[in-house]
Amino acid sequence: MSNMVIIGAQWGDEGKGKIVDLLSAQSDYIVRFQGGNNAGHTVIVNGEEYILHLIPSGILHKGKVCLIGNGVVLDPAVFCQELDALASKGVDVSPAFLKISRKTHLIMPYHRALDQAREGARMEEEKIGTTGRGIGPAYEDKITRIGVRASDLEDLELLRRKVEIALAEKNALLTGLYNCAPICPDAVMEELIPLARRLTPYLADVSSVLQQACLEGKNVMFEGAQGTHLDIDHGTYPFVTSSNTIAGNAAAGAGVGPRELEKIIGIVKAYTTRVGGGPFPTQLDCAIGRHLQTQGAEIGATTKRVRRCGWFDAVLVREAVRLNSLTELALTKLDVLSGLEELKICVAYKYRGVEIQYPPQAEAALAEVEPVYESLPGWSEDITRAKNMTDLPVNARAYISRIEELVGVKAGLISVGPDRSQTFTR
Ligand code: GDP
Ligand code: IMO
Ligand code: MG
Repeated sequence: MSNMVIIGAQWGDEGKGKIVDLLSAQSDYIVRFQGGNNAGHTVIVNGEEYILHLIPSGILHKGKVCLIGNGVVLDPAVFCQELDALASKGVDVSPAFLKISRKTHLIMPYHRALDQAREGARMEEEKIGTTGRGIGPAYEDKITRIGVRASDLEDLELLRRKVEIALAEKNALLTGLYNCAPICPDAVMEELIPLARRLTPYLADVSSVLQQACLEGKNVMFEGAQGTHLDIDHGTYPFVTSSNTIAGNAAAGAGVGPRELEKIIGIVKAYTTRVGGGPFPTQLDCAIGRHLQTQGAEIGATTKRVRRCGWFDAVLVREAVRLNSLTELALTKLDVLSGLEELKICVAYKYRGVEIQYPPQAEAALAEVEPVYESLPGWSEDITRAKNMTDLPVNARAYISRIEELVGVKAGLISVGPDRSQTFTR
């Protein structure tokens, strides 16, 4: 066994939570390294559903240590709500098994307010469709060097000073530009003080915990959130999230050296979905799109928005293989394709009359491309009980092989239903 990084290879919601949960059985430590509670990872174990936004999906396995790395932005109120929800289902969330880096930046009430005010003020076609959780503004403060870090919860005087400094700017924006009510430092502190009391036992030096784990030969899993094409640098800018979602950031966002990243598994849905704004070349606004949406229950776990659905886009996944150095794929939701007579895979794009193999880089160029499709025959059988490749119809096997050929990496895991048990390795 070795350390592994789990990365979304599309626009998020590929089923990372399910695969992290499954592979956690072989890991000792599971660490989130970027994003925040914009993520929604659904895990189903023996029919019981758990939705995790912030706490690593490995928490459902007894005895594993779950870590929140410095690269995450953490909303203290959401963290406490998630603690309570898990504890009420009998999950052990004691600080022995769950730790937050002191360097993790915190999402403050004014980050949420600013995120929502900005989205509200944008013209319809310019809306990013953020989750409204304050992710972008929290990362902004980190980069501008006025962010509040988890360690500040241990020093309430410093915390108050930082909140006042930040609010001097935020209130000017909220009231002057967005016509919103100002936020008072007292109110923020009132909300934070009880949360600080609950959070401080969880604070740790996550980087050193991981270093020790690696020295002892333990297995570490790095749990990605969002997806490659939502990456702040490499995604479909500006319709992206505010962190680097790609595998390279697992090292920086957890506080380990890049040589600790060994296996890099890209999670891919057998088709494509996107929630929020931005271009989506293979989107289907027809009965097939509705089939994928209904069969796949494609509704966002965080915002309950309906996810747009379309054909598998090999151009996007090929780019994800390149950007993340993927060593293998985990192919999810293959069962959702059952019942479609014909399946299409986008193998290239036509961009201004030229066929291209990788997404174009200029802003808005992806909205201009035309997908070049290849057709494959579908299958009608229910495959939700398949336990190995030979249980799959021949057309399903051919579909997997063609995807592997097109993106240049093998699918080591196949998922045929939402439950932990509905997965097989090859
Ligand atoms: P994540 O954000 O990448 O963890 O993905 P989400 O949890 O947001 O979305 C994936 C959804 O698909 C969840 O509701 C899962 O329970 C579900 N799911 C995962 N794998 C499969 C699968 O193989 N088949 C079906 N039908 N559902 C799946
Ligand atoms: P998981 O981890 C899908 C999208 C939002 C929006 C854009 C920016 O569950 O795969 P943000 O709130 O991050 O500033 O929103 O990114 N987005 C996601 N889409 N899955 C996610 O996470 C997402 N997290 C953010 O819809 O388009
Ligand atoms: Mg999700």
